[in-house]
Amino acid sequence: MKTHIPVMLNEVLEYLNIKNNGIYIDCTFGGGGHSIEVIKKLSNKGKLFCLDLDIEAIEHSRVKFSKYKNVLILNDNFANIENIAKKQKIRKINGVLLDLGFSSLQIEDENRGFSFNYNAPLDMRFNKNGILTAEQIVNNNSEAELENILKDYADEQFAGSIAKGICLSRKEKKIQTTKDLVEIIKKSVPKWYQHRRVHVATKTFQALRIATNNELENIRKVILSAMDIISSKSRIVVISFHSAEHRILKNIFKDAEKGNLIKLITKKPIFPKYEEIMHNSRARSAQMRVVEKI
Ligand SMILES: C[S@@+](CC[C@H](N)C(=O)[O-])C[C@H]1O[C@@H](n2cnc3c(N)ncnc32)[C@H](O)[C@@H]1O
Repeated sequence: MKTHIPVMLNEVLEYLNIKNNGIYIDCTFGGGGHSIEVIKKLSNKGKLFCLDLDIEAIEHSRVKFSKYKNVLILNDNFANIENIAKKQKIRKINGVLLDLGFSSLQIEDENRGFSFNYNAPLDMRFNKNGILTAEQIVNNNSEAELENILKDYADEQFAGSIAKGICLSRKEKKIQTTKDLVEIIKKSVPKWYQHRRVHVATKTFQALRIATNNELENIRKVILSAMDIISSKSRIVVISFHSAEHRILKNIFKDAEKGNLIKLITKKPIFPKYEEIMHNSRARSAQMRVVEKI
């Protein structure tokens, strides 16, 4: 059975400041790795709401929670957190957790197109009912749009030549699989770039996943709403994994701090300990930010 090791678990539990009768929202349920430890800290009066866009993640991990009566797992977009809270009649929210990006369950799924290690249709949707796939983006977006996606979402230094390579290639044949895309990327960049430690397709795949799932806009929405709806002295804990995510969080929190809405619990982001990185390579690029509503 596939598993996902939760990143910075001890830090999450410490900084979320869990009150045993409190109400918490884990916006990124995934493999339930954070949620299961949060629920263990709650009494019967406490409650945990979990969200995930990916119904497969929910189905895969739901069973671990069957003995807990005070957990509700919902298949929804965290960008809708305000409406979800209204609908669920949650009046007081004591803490919100976000562990951004994708889980090991998703990247290790051979059929979903998140990984350049498996040949699969270029799908990359978290939400299987979502209308946009990575295949549509690579076949329909203009060269300039593709270049911007690669630059803005992944700081890809060969954004221009990869975008050009994609557009030339799709004139010959529709781009359908992860393998098609990896071949195009390899042909579009210099040889030395293909032989670095990081796989040559890493950034392109990251950028397309972000575009397919509208990730940055969803992050902006959830953070702004969460700061609005949580109770005073409650916290938002966010783990992010790449510079586009780090940037957006840093800027939103800086503005909110200036506006006296929140305070930053640590001036600098918190990084995983060396031992965790040794044990879980996914933690390598993680940064945790913690803010508290004033
Ligand atoms: C890094 S994983 C979370 C792993 C989880 N914390 C654990 O320890 O098992 C991120 C999860 O967030 C989900 N996700 C991404 N964007 C989302 C969104 N806009 N709304 C809800 N869930 C989302 C993904 O489907 C994925 O399952």
